[in-house]
Formats: sequence, C-alpha cells, structure tokens
Amino acid sequence: MRRHPAVGAGAALGALGLTAAAAAHVWARHVEIHRFTLREAELRILPPGARPLRLLHISDIHLLPDQRRKLDFLTHLSTLQPDLVIDTGDNIASAAAVPVLAEALAPLLRRPGAFVMGSNDMFSPMPKNPARYLLRDPRPKGFTERTEPDLPTDQLAARLTEHGWKDLTNTRARLVLDELEVTLVGVDDPHLERDEMPAPKTGPGPEDAAASAREPRAVLHLGVAHAPYRRVLDAFVADGADLMLAGHTHGGQLRLPGIGAIVTNCDLPRAQARGLTRWRGVPLHVSAGMGASPYSNYRLMTPPEATLLTLRPSAP
Ligand SMILES: [Fe+2]
Repeated sequence: MRRHPAVGAGAALGALGLTAAAAAHVWARHVEIHRFTLREAELRILPPGARPLRLLHISDIHLLPDQRRKLDFLTHLSTLQPDLVIDTGDNIASAAAVPVLAEALAPLLRRPGAFVMGSNDMFSPMPKNPARYLLRDPRPKGFTERTEPDLPTDQLAARLTEHGWKDLTNTRARLVLDELEVTLVGVDDPHLERDEMPAPKTGPGPEDAAASAREPRAVLHLGVAHAPYRRVLDAFVADGADLMLAGHTHGGQLRLPGIGAIVTNCDLPRAQARGLTRWRGVPLHVSAGMGASPYSNYRLMTPPEATLLTLRPSAP
C-alpha cells in the first residue's frame, strides 16, 4: 500500500518533534541543571552621595547533601564579598542538607544578611504530576492545610542566624552598613498562605532612638518574600519599599523560545518570572534560583543562578 506524501511528511515532522523533545529533556535534566550562573545587574535607588552597595540575592537552592557542583557554586559566591546577602528561601530538599548548607554558606553567613523561608524549608519534597504545574493553582488539594513541618525548620533558622543574619519571618529588621541604614520587612511563605504583614512602625524603638542620637543615615527599605504573590508586593509597596526581592518561580523552570516562562507558580505575571522588573513602579527582583525539587530536577532556558545587584545612588 502506498502512503499519501502528506502522511509521510506528517510522520517525519512528528518524529522530528519527538527527537527535539527528547533532546530538550536530556539537556534540561543533565546539562542545564548544572550550569550555575552569576547574573549581575545595576539599580539606581540609593540616596545621592551613598556609596554603591553590592547585594547578593540567593534563592531556591533546594540542596541535597551530595550536590557537589551546587556546593562549589555556593562556595564560589563567598569570594564576591557582598555588602549584603538576601536569601529568599527553599534552601533545602532534605533534613541532612542543613549542616552541609551551613558549611557551604559559612563565609556568607558572616556578612550582613537576612532571609525568609519557603515551603521547601518546612515540608519534604513530594512527587507531583508535572501536569498540575500548568494549572492555575498547582498546589495539591489540601496542600495549604499541611501545618506540621517535617523538615527541621528551626534548626535551619538557627544555623542561618548564628552569625547575625536576620530572620524576616513576618517581621521587621534593621541593619547598619556604614553610612547606610537598611530597614527590612519580610513575610512567611505566601505560597502556604502563612504571610502576615507586620504592623507598621508607629514610632522609634530603643534601638532607633540610640541610632538617631548618632549621625543621621540614609535609609534603604527592602521588602522580602519567598513567593511573589501580588497581595504581598502590594503590601510592600504600601510599606514604602525601595526594592522588593523574591524567589519561588524558578524563572518558570521550563521556558520556551519566543514565549518565555509558561507559569510562575503564583499570581505574578509570566513576564516577571525572573530578573529585574517593576511592580507598581517599585523595583522587583525575582531570582530564578539555584535548583529545583528532586522530583522535577530539570531546568530549560533558565539556568540555575545567583544575582549580584549593585545598588547605586539615583542621582549622578
Ligand atoms: Fe523553589
């Protein structure tokens, strides 16, 4: 029996598509997931006259203890000697990763820094149907009802704070970097609906009073969350944030040519799945993060990353 030429062409195209998909899968699973990248960007948001500030943004490490290349990248980041480190959560993928992470981060933990937690700092990763990821709300039914973390979140927080990093879980903090005062506000993971915006500051506390007795400083106000849900970004904008930082999206994790991120895994627009954009006029930096769940450990067109943001004065 002779086949119609169109049938033959269709079969050939189908075979080509399957081959391309298989090649993309191999690339995403075995090559790109290890292509650790340092991105750099500049932002002019500091008060006039302030000296530049190097802010290292790390996120979504999803560490397992045997991920040697990821650990080497974390160690490399410490050579950047940033002025400030912001960690937007999803640090671990198992309880055994906590001491390994603390060791790899040790030089950075000794620098000024702050963090929030993500759901993967509280709950062990679970196998998921990849198709769920494409739905509007990809969380399994009842997911937000899981209230008892099975990962050692307190132990992780203790290791992250042992040299002075600030835990921004539904709270505010303050850091003084030479002449620049950095005020921070953070929330617990909005993806788990644990975010509670702390009450506005009503007046100077004892620490502030002591500070105001000294020379007045320029102030930079940062809003920090794991998952960049709109309600949280709106709250940070209302709080007067100069810059907002988040993770969670993995940059879409799978990006397509000409389309970019297919999903953000939250209600943030897809075009803002990674990098520097603005939300209601305020700069927003979303880190694409350094890893992925062990059950979906692949990345396509969004290699694992950390970002060094150089903040400069807004006026020359
Ligand atoms: Fe993550």
